Amino acid sequence: MTKRLLTLVSALLLSLLINAQNLIIPKPVSEKAGEGHFVLNEKTVLNSNEKSSFNINYLKGKLELATGYRLESKNRDENRISLMLVSDQNIKPEGYLLEVNPSEIVIKATTSAGIFYGIQTLLQIVPASVYSGRSTAADNWNIASVSIEDYPRFGYRGMMLDVSRTFFDAQTVKKYIEWLAHHKINTLHWHLTDDNGWRIEIKKYPLLTEKGAWRGENEVLAPAFGSGKERYGGFYTQNEIKEIVKFAAERNIEIVPEIDLPGHSKAVTASYPNVACNHSDNSVSVQGEGQNVWCVGKEENFKMLENIMKELAKLFPGKYIHIGGDEVNYTAWDNCPSCAALKEREGMKTNEELLNYFVRRMEKIVEKTGKKMAGWDEILDGGDLHGETRVYAWRSVEKGIESVRKGQPTIMMPGAYCYFDMKYSPIERGHNWAGIVSTEKTYSLDPTGTAALNEEESKLIVGVQGALWTELLGWPAKFLDYQTFPRLAAVAEVGWSLQSIRKWDDFNNRLERGHYNRMANMGISFRLPYPVVNYEDGAIRVKLPYEWAVIRYTSDESEPTALSPVYKGEIFTDKPEKYRFATFYKDDIKSITVTAENGGYRYLSPSVEITTNLEEGKHNKIHNLTDYKSDTYFRTTRRLAAGDYLTYTFAEPVKSSRIIVETGMPVVDFYWITDGYVEYSYDGAEFVKGEEFKRGTATIIPDKPVKAVRIKVTGPNDGYVAGFRDLKIE
Ligand code: ACM
Ligand code: ZN
Repeated sequence: MTKRLLTLVSALLLSLLINAQNLIIPKPVSEKAGEGHFVLNEKTVLNSNEKSSFNINYLKGKLELATGYRLESKNRDENRISLMLVSDQNIKPEGYLLEVNPSEIVIKATTSAGIFYGIQTLLQIVPASVYSGRSTAADNWNIASVSIEDYPRFGYRGMMLDVSRTFFDAQTVKKYIEWLAHHKINTLHWHLTDDNGWRIEIKKYPLLTEKGAWRGENEVLAPAFGSGKERYGGFYTQNEIKEIVKFAAERNIEIVPEIDLPGHSKAVTASYPNVACNHSDNSVSVQGEGQNVWCVGKEENFKMLENIMKELAKLFPGKYIHIGGDEVNYTAWDNCPSCAALKEREGMKTNEELLNYFVRRMEKIVEKTGKKMAGWDEILDGGDLHGETRVYAWRSVEKGIESVRKGQPTIMMPGAYCYFDMKYSPIERGHNWAGIVSTEKTYSLDPTGTAALNEEESKLIVGVQGALWTELLGWPAKFLDYQTFPRLAAVAEVGWSLQSIRKWDDFNNRLERGHYNRMANMGISFRLPYPVVNYEDGAIRVKLPYEWAVIRYTSDESEPTALSPVYKGEIFTDKPEKYRFATFYKDDIKSITVTAENGGYRYLSPSVEITTNLEEGKHNKIHNLTDYKSDTYFRTTRRLAAGDYLTYTFAEPVKSSRIIVETGMPVVDFYWITDGYVEYSYDGAEFVKGEEFKRGTATIIPDKPVKAVRIKVTGPNDGYVAGFRDLKIE
């Protein structure tokens, strides 16, 4: 090979190498590597022809912080970065062209949104420290030449955040919005109200937040989801809302506020009791909440709703207001004379028709404020809708199909793909009623293809959205990050990238090799896959979740930390149950901790009998506590009260070093005992007081064989039912 050819080949290899590192998420429409690279240095200038200075300052701020250079806004022909608003019919709305060559970096777009997305892509092709502002010596600010043409598949790419069940302050919401913006998400669907807290200041109805934003021992709302007796809650003032709306708008994110009506409204009825139906009704919603439905028969309720919508419309400049409409407890309406009278008067036979009546009136109220209405897919039931009313299909893909066939603009967000409160895997924390929602499952959604819609029908699919309901978000720390990322990155690509260029393996490669580092630099404690650990023939062997994963372990049952040894190869031991393993990324991000399969915990399972004053329901019966299966439990039919008890009596006294008494549902880990303690007995007659329950768990360290263990309840639990579990006896 001649020297010239060699140089050429190595230059080519180098460019491939650099370009292989672009690894952009969401994947752009087209990306062509060029020759050479742009050198970002202390002489680089940064210009823009936009009237608004937001984009240029945004980029400048990030680049300057990370590089330490000052990027002046001088005009120069080379070594420049330009943001150029152009009128070019070929560039689609939100689309952009990004050109990097040795003399300049240019982003062209027809809208500020397009420029903003060009900037987001640029941030992904420079060192990831651009997100943290803390560059390292290894960072290379030579940016490989590339030509990117890009635009989104869908005009709506959303994320729903429930701030009612768990409250996140304004600062956290802004940070979250910034993370969404980095993923080219353009809508935050903000679930501002629910049974467990009203979170937005409404001047005309101050009790909504004075009372309805708080739960706890002496509050109008009962404790829930582990917040216990403490006064828990919070809300956004109208000033905070304005600030957040502006912060989002600058980042091309429209906020769709949701006031969940007419169900999910305990926070309203607890603050303004007259809003509810007949007060003697004691039926409950699927979440077990009584008196949480707006009465449709009381005309004054519509006046109140009009006033609320007026204030809302002023605060949110976007086009839509979401009125919920999901999971209404119809029995409340059945038992209400006012609702019955209305049905009679209007000739309505069913509660679906009554819901439709409510929804149609809300459409008019919302339209009077200059907005359009949106709602969950239940609003399809019971009658027609205004043609522009937007339907959010959450229950299933089929609901999305039904919505489209009725001619409604539709957001595809079926829980089985898009609900980030579901578990990533069977052994991780989360709900599972919509199934296990792995990142791959989320990624597999094609908003039109999964539903097999034809071209005409597909036009009504406005976009896609992830959703995070937050019953389980109270702990552990940063579970918000964990549940959202990287599933949000998958939704972002589902919404942005053409279906024809999407492949899971390719996405996952970009995720692991490029995006982990970006998310870490953004400060996101994202979910890392855990190692699969096997014990066989006296050795523990670990299967790495990805090729270059770092696995750390301990051999004393403790949690692995960044200081624990790195797994290098099989470990020979006759005590596999003592070992714990976790995947680590950059020391501070780690997976859940796992033990060796077929070598993990071994609990004793002595014959046991249960006695209790608590009643059984139809499911989750008391005998579940005697089978030592960790996934079955006893579920009460009501909230606990002081004086309730449950006793486990062994056939014979059991010799054990430790008995762990866990309560709450095994799957989702709430509905545990808040106030209570354990006691235990060596003879079955005389009991010794043990630990108080903390987060639903108490531990007994006996010094003799134990004949009986008793749970004593001293106060109400938080949750409308409670769960008791099998003892873990070591
Ligand atoms: C919902 O998950 N209830 C919309
Ligand atoms: Zn009523």
